[in-house]
Amino acid sequence: MIHKVSRLFSGVKPRGDKGSVELSRNIPRHVAIIMDGNGRWAKKRGLPRVAGHREGMKAIRRVTRAADELGVEVLTLYAFSTENWKRPSDEVSYIMKLPVDFLETELPELIQRNVRVMTIGSEEGLPSHTVEAVHKFKNETRHNTGMILNFALNYGSRSEIVQAVQSLMDQVEKGTLKRDDITEETFNQALFTCALPDPDLLIRTSGEIRLSNFMLWQLAYAEMWFTDVMWPDFNEALFKEAIAAYQQRSRRYGSVE
Ligand code: FPP
Repeated sequence: MIHKVSRLFSGVKPRGDKGSVELSRNIPRHVAIIMDGNGRWAKKRGLPRVAGHREGMKAIRRVTRAADELGVEVLTLYAFSTENWKRPSDEVSYIMKLPVDFLETELPELIQRNVRVMTIGSEEGLPSHTVEAVHKFKNETRHNTGMILNFALNYGSRSEIVQAVQSLMDQVEKGTLKRDDITEETFNQALFTCALPDPDLLIRTSGEIRLSNFMLWQLAYAEMWFTDVMWPDFNEALFKEAIAAYQQRSRRYGSVE
């Protein structure tokens, strides 16, 4: 596993200095990111929207490396929502090929970093080449014990919640679960994210300040950090800025200090 934190961040400012990451404490276990602004990034440069998605892949590589070096346990990236099917079909086709390209270029490094790839969302409706790439990713990294790189692909939080309710109802009807055993814990277990801790920090790029049907249940107590920077321009320094801001927050979970 590569964890050369001290070398990479040897220039980090001393503890307590606003805006710097404290490596020794309080690194969020789970960071979730709404990667937004690819289209606008491309438009500003007179390029087709898909050029923004292509450049966005480089930002994924940068942030995956940064999160891994910092010791983040889970990095969830919102790659394609259930609503994104409404986009022009050539753009959807382009995005659906990106996991294949990502696999080709990134798999060796992910394996070297001991990163395990997971996905949340439905495979239904995804083209076969996308599903194959996703399966290969998961399969080749399934024994890795380091950071989890979790792609939300064809993911929508409301439909995830509805599916969870249906699955719990099925169990009640079959008699394997009692109505009163439907608790926050059993509900959690019925979600795509059942194996993951809730996100501690949500980052959204591009200046939009909304959740867009992303992890509505799981983000209940997440700290949120927004930036005007478009996703293709997002980098390690901004990621560290978000983590440093998170470290300044006081998380009370409804209690008092
Ligand atoms: C949002 O920007 C971005 C997306 C909907 C797609 C993001 C996908 C990737 C960066 C690649 C995914 C790769 C893998 C490996 C799964 P936008 O197009 O909504 O930007 P806009 O708001 O400026 O139009």
